[in-house]
Amino acid sequence: MPFMISSPIADSRFRLTESVAVELANIYGTPLYVVDEAHFRTRIRTYLNAFRAAYAKSEISLASKANSTMALVKIAYQEGCTIDVASEGELRVALAAGVPGSKCHLHGNNKQRDELQFALDNGIGHIVADNFDEIELLDELLVGELKQTTKIVLRLAPGVDPATHAKISTGQADTKFGFNIADGSAEKAATRCLELGFNLYGFHCHVGSQLLDPEAQRSGGELIALFAIEMLKKHGYTAEYLNVGGGLGVQYTSKDQPMGMEDYCRLIVETVTTTLSGSGIDPVLGQEPGRSLVAESGLTLYRVGVIKTVPAQTIGRRTYVAVDGGLSDNPRPALYGSKYTVERVAPAPNEGDSQTVTVSGKHCETDKLFEDIALPADLKVGDLIQVLCTGAYNAAMASNYNRYQRPAMALLREDGTHTLIQRRETWEEMLSRDLLPDDLK
Ligand SMILES: Cc1ncc(COP(=O)(O)O)c(C=O)c1O
Repeated sequence: MPFMISSPIADSRFRLTESVAVELANIYGTPLYVVDEAHFRTRIRTYLNAFRAAYAKSEISLASKANSTMALVKIAYQEGCTIDVASEGELRVALAAGVPGSKCHLHGNNKQRDELQFALDNGIGHIVADNFDEIELLDELLVGELKQTTKIVLRLAPGVDPATHAKISTGQADTKFGFNIADGSAEKAATRCLELGFNLYGFHCHVGSQLLDPEAQRSGGELIALFAIEMLKKHGYTAEYLNVGGGLGVQYTSKDQPMGMEDYCRLIVETVTTTLSGSGIDPVLGQEPGRSLVAESGLTLYRVGVIKTVPAQTIGRRTYVAVDGGLSDNPRPALYGSKYTVERVAPAPNEGDSQTVTVSGKHCETDKLFEDIALPADLKVGDLIQVLCTGAYNAAMASNYNRYQRPAMALLREDGTHTLIQRRETWEEMLSRDLLPDDLK
């Protein structure tokens, strides 16, 4: 029977009211990332409950690459997530937040010896091995008891091509991530781990991000389950864990209609359990969403600095609205042409006329953030605008380009108060890494 999708998702993205936006901008300055704690906790609870309802032996990890701010990692852990880290840096954040190493797992396609050693020293929950060089390196590092106690999961490339931007598509055969199933690499990796006496815990795949059509994840789940059955039949190995990665999409604009968490979890569970049925494999099933847990809980507040209308070829005139941030706090429009929902928040948008404008940042690049969008016709310099759904892959991808200070992040607490969870970078920090050799002083 085909899997039925229930009604489309309502717009439940976090937005600020005018008064709170003005208060936050006055206290913390702009640009400012703002995350709503209640919204974030609700997203996590909804996902956890949906997955648990569909499958008892389920586990959700926050993909901390989406937003590794310490307070948010801690909230996710408090809510019952384990933490997916993709580097020593992300692991250090989780540990500093008070998450035990055993509740984290480590990803990476080129993990360094020191990085692996650091993870082992901190009792990492499991390591997701990506390539043959890493397996051999692990064999050197897993000395004594560690060989039995350290769980190893193999990242598989199931060879599915998801419908998403090429730069966030990872499950296809031509990818730097994981062991290809079809060409026999995955089987070789599994047999090598068994031969070396590793504690092979199971298999993982992550096929891509911002997936509005779940077919690629469904098919990834099916393929890794089939692979687990093959490993049982051919090598007598029983996988205890299967992880289908993250990837569930979010509503950047109203055009984005991702599958709801409940439907998505039921689809994944139904796929994997149907595939495994009768095999005797009864794994813990994992997911590691990032974007779908945190993107919609965050927004960015900017102040309009300049409004300029210029001649434009096909349309006659174009109005540029320059805000006090840009490429350095949100590189996604430049990287993937990402679209966002942009609203004036203070003064509150009236019901009056709108104009089509292009919002640009202040960087020495074209730095077009949001092209040809509608904002109120009476938009003025000094107005505050909010860009929705920036909780994931914004702060985490921020840079110092043009030597701008990375913005602060404020958390709206459940009790209505607010606090900073990341302060704006200081000028001292900005300059502290530069070294002037004596002869240049
Ligand atoms: C291995 C892995 N897991 C999980 C994620 C999280 O994906 P998303 O934020 O789309 O849920 C990613 C994203 O790149 C990833 O590479």
